[in-house]
Amino acid sequence: MNDKPLYIGLMTGTSLDATDAVLVRFDERPQLLAHVSLPYPQPLRDKLMALNRAPQLALSEFAELSRTLGEQLAAAANALLANQSLHPDRVSAIGSHGQTIFHAPEAGMSLQIGHPAIIAKRTGIPTVADFRVDDMALGGEGAPLAPAFHQTLLSETDCAAGCALINIGGIANISLFRPGQPVLGWDTGPGNGLMDELCQQHFQKPYDADGQLAASTSPDPDLLAHFLQDPYFAGPAPKSTGRDAFHTQWVAERLNTYSRPAPSPLTLLSTLNQLTVQSLSNALKQENGGAWPKKMYVMGGGSRNATLMQRLQKAAGDGTEIGTSEQLGVPPEAVEATMMAWLARERLAQRPIALASVTGAQRNAVLGGVWLP
Ligand SMILES: Nc1ncnc2c1ncn2[C@@H]1O[C@H](COP(=O)(O)OP(=O)(O)O)[C@@H](O)[C@H]1O
Ligand SMILES: [Mg+2]
Repeated sequence: MNDKPLYIGLMTGTSLDATDAVLVRFDERPQLLAHVSLPYPQPLRDKLMALNRAPQLALSEFAELSRTLGEQLAAAANALLANQSLHPDRVSAIGSHGQTIFHAPEAGMSLQIGHPAIIAKRTGIPTVADFRVDDMALGGEGAPLAPAFHQTLLSETDCAAGCALINIGGIANISLFRPGQPVLGWDTGPGNGLMDELCQQHFQKPYDADGQLAASTSPDPDLLAHFLQDPYFAGPAPKSTGRDAFHTQWVAERLNTYSRPAPSPLTLLSTLNQLTVQSLSNALKQENGGAWPKKMYVMGGGSRNATLMQRLQKAAGDGTEIGTSEQLGVPPEAVEATMMAWLARERLAQRPIALASVTGAQRNAVLGGVWLP
């Protein structure tokens, strides 16, 4: 390794699949040096998942959860250090997203837990966290953070005639780059989250590996149209959402108001897969003057769902080239954690993050607070 400073990024997405820890060095583009994924213990996962459906928590439980998650995040960072035989002094900072347990743009507040003080003390590395509240204090949505980072991944040729970067995690979000215009970014709605929950309930699988189950039957077009009537989908950007809005109960409520017979679990899964594709497609066209961008780079675990990717290509047509973030130098499952390392670096340098056009904040702000070891 050369002497350039190293950073660690910690990401805990809405899928609750794992804590991702990455080691990054920044040259012209970020260089991913190592990636460790630490699965959540099942009881912790169950508690967090239940919070999506009913966001009610005694303060004693809140405190306990924030501490336990802080330990989990610190363990992921320490596993990465051990795996690389790296002394903490070599790392300038950790950027930790924390687990979102409540995101409320209407209240101007977003709550991430997994306390950074614990991460800093357990690792011996300064830890940057709480990246959303500065933007919200300036009237912004506090989300998505990704467009500013995505911009740094693009060279001129990667996006000459405009492009979209699409992250398909539990929830899906887009960064849209149009020539000569400010970047736009927003959450389109469900990514893998609804499909994951259905797979766990009906197929004893954590997720639909490679989209094989969804591929086995066609989506139900009427049910798809019914799902798409949720007003979130038609609303203009900027907008953000979470698993607190799109979860099993949301599906159950939509099915309750569906006038036809309930679909089989397989048809439902195939339709939810198409819902992710169609909501992405509708939102992209709505914000991009009715057309698909010429290039799209997909990332997040959804990029491994072959059925989803094929259906996206079908919706886009031949005029759009769809690849993954691998072509931009970062593997799809490491982009979000790499972004956290980048945000830590920008915070230490006190550089504002260019998000006002995305989140609707009054201005760009330096994001996050710093905890020392
Ligand atoms: N091989 C695969 N086939 C299909 N889906 C996959 C595969 N690998 C991962 N996924 C999906 O990606 C999800 C994790 O994606 P991730 O980007 O980590 O989301 P988040 O940021 O919400 O944690 C899994 O829950 C699963 O739905
Ligand atoms: Mg994840």
